[in-house]
Amino acid sequence: MKIIFPSTENFQLAKSLLQTIEKSGEEAYIVGGAVRDTILERQVSDIDIATSATPEKIIQLFAKTLPTGIAHGTVSVYEHDHWFEVTTFREEGPYDDGRHPRYVHFDTNLVGDLSRRDFTINAMAMDQNGELRDPFHGYDDLLAKIVRAVGDAKSRFQEDGLRVARAFRFAATLGFTIAESTMAALSSSASFLDKVAAERRLEEWSKFLGALTAPKCDWIPDAIVSKWTGWNDFLFSTCCHQITEVDGVYDRLALIFLLTESNADARLETMMRTLRYSRKGIEEVLALVQASQTWRMTSPIRMTLPFGKALSSYGESLLERAVRLNVIQDPLLTLDDELALSIKWLNEHPIRTLKDLAIQGSDLIRDLSVQGPMIGMALEHLFDLVANNQLDNTYESLMKEANDWIMETVTDEQVIRKLLQTAPKNLLIYEYKKLSSTNDVAREKIAEARVPMLAVFTDHQESGRGRQGRAWVLPPGKGLALSLAFRLEGEDRYRLQEWPLFAALTVRSALSSIGIEKARIKWPNDIFIEGKKVCGILTEMRTIDKEVHLVVGIGINVNAELNDFPDDLKSKVTSLKITQMKSISINMLTARLIDEFYELLLKYQAKKRFSDQKEEYERYCITLGQHVHVRQGHDTVIGIAQRIDEEGTLWIGNDQGSVIPIRSGEIIENSEDRV
Ligand code: BTN
Repeated sequence: MKIIFPSTENFQLAKSLLQTIEKSGEEAYIVGGAVRDTILERQVSDIDIATSATPEKIIQLFAKTLPTGIAHGTVSVYEHDHWFEVTTFREEGPYDDGRHPRYVHFDTNLVGDLSRRDFTINAMAMDQNGELRDPFHGYDDLLAKIVRAVGDAKSRFQEDGLRVARAFRFAATLGFTIAESTMAALSSSASFLDKVAAERRLEEWSKFLGALTAPKCDWIPDAIVSKWTGWNDFLFSTCCHQITEVDGVYDRLALIFLLTESNADARLETMMRTLRYSRKGIEEVLALVQASQTWRMTSPIRMTLPFGKALSSYGESLLERAVRLNVIQDPLLTLDDELALSIKWLNEHPIRTLKDLAIQGSDLIRDLSVQGPMIGMALEHLFDLVANNQLDNTYESLMKEANDWIMETVTDEQVIRKLLQTAPKNLLIYEYKKLSSTNDVAREKIAEARVPMLAVFTDHQESGRGRQGRAWVLPPGKGLALSLAFRLEGEDRYRLQEWPLFAALTVRSALSSIGIEKARIKWPNDIFIEGKKVCGILTEMRTIDKEVHLVVGIGINVNAELNDFPDDLKSKVTSLKITQMKSISINMLTARLIDEFYELLLKYQAKKRFSDQKEEYERYCITLGQHVHVRQGHDTVIGIAQRIDEEGTLWIGNDQGSVIPIRSGEIIENSEDRV
């Protein structure tokens, strides 16, 4: 059968590619989605070509090529601003992992090549004249609007679990039904999705969700959606009919969470993270869910503007979207009335977006030294007050309020959580108004919780512990005692000696990220600024069965004045406030520390070694070249700190001409040193 060869630029370029290959004595065809969409008269963006020519021959035939998947016989060919994937006819060996064939072989022909494809509608080829090669009757299935697996459906899904999701995605995007035999195989194939990476599942899920039209959604078994999304016991069937009443993937997702989760806003982040949604995506869905919940909860009074941030970030349309979500959930509401109410409500507020405020982020940076996400949070705080008629929208009153708010924002777990940038927002973070030692609490918590990392902090630690059995005293309310606990398993348990040094580097870099560049490291892990100690780190561990629970305790003098320290320490210690000559936000600092330690954990799990950071450590280490006293058990080694090796060991040259390695130990200035 012949179909009309499209006259669009990309198809004409593809045609000349086919001609060039054929002139060299080989066969070449346009295959897959491009053929399917041409027949369906849908727009085609990517054109794939299958050929009998080897990749080497394709590279010789064309001027600009890239060996994008040479192991699978694929070469990308560039012609006039278009890339074409040209793949040698191939068949695939058995699939060991449910995603990738163990081997591919190229000694086959077009039919062999088409036979390895997923669905009949994707297993057609077309030559340069539009002549169709269709050994699996994909054309008939296209006309009948049917998704049917090529050959034995069950084996197809077993070979590649992603095909389970693709079957439903094609059915949704094309408005097709699934062939009975294929559907029967799908029903028992949900578990094949287990082997598919979350990123791939997400890609198909987003296309599926966006394309879904009523009433075409109830044929998908809940078991498949649960495996597809990774959301255990997710009952898609209970909400699928309603979600098609809104457009847009994020609006549909928000509706799914509102309809299926009693605790939607708390659960959705974990659920979306499981499927590797972007942070931006998570925030938008969260904003929609919260706007919808707030609007419902406050109805009919609706006095305040509690989701100001969301409104300013996503525009007034957010409220309209939230109103639509509510109308779907509550049959007693009518869309027109609700929309009219929301417009009236918006008009009652003096400002609607952050841009309407009489100050900007740059004013806060310049006058109050605010940094990073704290700027946005301060603006949101001001926005909420002004929008709700609780504060005048003038430069002076806004600046005064911002200053008070920033300084008064004492440590607060909620604020810290919002300030997190790389660590998961649902990380376990425990805040205590007062406690004995954060290290002790963190050790107990990590033993109870089955998580890789958690944080415990306070600004009032009553019996803080320092190294060598000393006490660690922080002036209450002016410092940070933070312990990060890690659960290390498998090989990660065997490289612990590097942690104290990693910890020092991590604290230094967290300080640098809030603009404190002067921090230096005294081996192994004290942090000094301008020759005085500002932070101490106590790393402790405990082995339980096949796990190590590691606790890194960090004590930082943040906003203490010199008078807050005991007299005998005044010449040896300092605080961030003293060195920076301004108060430092403990929330911001804590958030950055948690972020940086979370990244350290990821890198450590990815086998990062101290040797990879040795140069950075040396750059910031103030110990090298110094005359030092190092306590080693009961002995003290005295000499010049000569070098640090790949393992983090410090080598000290003593007066007798020996060079002594110090693996673990502590540098002291003199025997009374207490800091
Ligand atoms: C030192 O320099 O001796 C180490 C001091 C470590 C102090 C911190 S504060 C948080 C954590 N909890 C403790 O009890 N100690 C550490």
